[in-house]
Amino acid sequence: MSTRTAVVTGASSGIGAATARHLAREGYTVVCAARRADRIEALAAEIGGRAVVCDVTSPASVAALAEAVGPRLDVLVNNAGGAIGLGAVAEADPDQWRRMYDVNVLGLMQVTQALLPALVASGAGTIVNVGSTAGRIAYEGGAGYTAAKHGTKVVTETLRLELFDQPVRVCEVAPGMVRTEEFSLVRFDGDQERADAVYAGVAEPLVAEDVADAIAWVVTRPPHVNIDELVIKPRAQAAQHKVHRV
Ligand SMILES: NC(=O)c1ccc[n+]([C@@H]2O[C@H](COP(=O)([O-])OP(=O)(O)OC[C@H]3O[C@@H](n4cnc5c(N)ncnc54)[C@H](OP(=O)(O)O)[C@@H]3O)[C@@H](O)[C@H]2O)c1
Repeated sequence: MSTRTAVVTGASSGIGAATARHLAREGYTVVCAARRADRIEALAAEIGGRAVVCDVTSPASVAALAEAVGPRLDVLVNNAGGAIGLGAVAEADPDQWRRMYDVNVLGLMQVTQALLPALVASGAGTIVNVGSTAGRIAYEGGAGYTAAKHGTKVVTETLRLELFDQPVRVCEVAPGMVRTEEFSLVRFDGDQERADAVYAGVAEPLVAEDVADAIAWVVTRPPHVNIDELVIKPRAQAAQHKVHRV
């Protein structure tokens, strides 16, 4: 087993699973964390990593993750997150907003808190938070998600300030449109047609591996190099509202 360890949350699908695979190729022993045991166990077996079932919104579950990781950790990728629903502020469902804040902000905070001592103990720790272009710009119907991802961005910035004298880098990778199997399906509560419409006509959207590649690049810079934020979009997405569809 490698002596360098990485934790990836939300490793059961999409960007998280691709990142776990990529970091394993870079020589890390990857702790794959998510709620669906079967998926992370299969992934851990494939990449020679470890699976830890974890709901990032549950303090007890996060404490168990920290226990399983132990006293030293090199890399934490806070990737667990996502969007739930799409609708005007005037008709928004507060429960959906709460769930988005819970996973994209509070979950990230709890996992970071629990694993920070181990990251400091490594002498050269790295935190990569997976934000979004939704954390930079508003779009109609997206306020619950954009508010949460603005939260991810600001928490990242604050943590970097607070850790300025500690051996831990704090980075954000913020993707635009990424065609993953589940992101839009989760957002639209399993409605495949609506999910497919998000990517309709986009000849080459980003895929999970593109973002994983960017995360691995951020992680593998020399320890004194902090990539504060990296925004990554498909060429077809010039802006949130301006997407080339054929
Ligand atoms: N796809 C895009 O267009 C896009 C763009 C910008 C940013 N992002 C961000 O990128 C990240 C990954 O997105 P994705 O496209 O790969 O979506 P995805 O395939 O839906 O993956 C989301 C992951 O988060 C995990 N997760 C959700 N709630 C969790 C919880 N409470 N505790 C632990 N894990 C939880 C899910 O696993 P379980 O259900 O097994 O727990 C899943 O592995 C998210 O933070 C998302 O906001 C995505």
